[in-house]
Amino acid sequence: MYDGPKIIAGLIVFLVLALFPFWYTAASGQGGVRPDPKLPEGKTACVASKEYMNPYHMDMLDDWRDLVVRDGHRMVATRDGEKVEMSLTKTCMDCHANKETFCDECHTYLGVDPYCWDCHIEPKGE
Ligand code: HEC
Ligand code: HEC
Ligand code: HEC
Repeated sequence: MYDGPKIIAGLIVFLVLALFPFWYTAASGQGGVRPDPKLPEGKTACVASKEYMNPYHMDMLDDWRDLVVRDGHRMVATRDGEKVEMSLTKTCMDCHANKETFCDECHTYLGVDPYCWDCHIEPKGE
């Protein structure tokens, strides 16, 4: 039995999947259809570096929620040493005031739809 074409097709699928993160990173910064999240104007830094926030913001939000809801902690120091409240709406969305042009810009592209807004108030900022 000759399975060459199947193996090649399998390899192509594997390569596309394996290279997706690199392709995705390389694609941001060039032209074409890609998410273009609008960063808040007049703000220069996030609660952590952009390199950290980009892949790990969902983990940070999980940690914040657990710390607040389970452990009763409210405040956290940012990397600049500033104390902020661990709050999705009061902190994240205070800067990223437009969910649509920031969060949704990536999530819609990726087909993720975090259910957080079932309960947390969705900002409709400028
Ligand atoms: C003080 C304002 C401020 C707060 C509070 C803030 N951000 Fe940011 N955020 C920024 C800025 C400014 C950048 C861009 C940073 C840069 O370019 O180095 C950014 C970057 C990001 C990025 C990366 C975007 C990209 O294009 O890769 C994500 C994701 C993000 N923030 C999510 C969050 C989440 C989630 C929270 C709450 C846990 C939060 N931010 C809190 C101002 C803020
Ligand atoms: C630079 C692109 C980008 C931006 C901007 C962004 N996200 Fe995300 N977000 C992602 C990626 C990538 C995932 C992971 C998707 C997956 O795991 O399939 C994700 C996942 C999440 C998840 C987990 C969802 C789940 O179902 O697992 C939450 C919660 C989340 N983001 C919150 C936010 C919030 C709040 C903002 C705006 C303040 C934001 N994100 C902005 C790219 C982004
Ligand atoms: C079923 C309703 C519900 C859903 C869905 C939900 N939350 Fe919450 N969340 C709450 C409640 C209630 C609190 C406690 C509020 C408080 O003590 O300030 C909370 C607290 C939090 C906190 C800390 C307090 C604050 O002001 O933000 C974070 C962070 C948080 N949630 C993140 C998330 C994220 C991220 C998602 C989506 C992945 C999510 N939540 C989905 C109900 C919900």
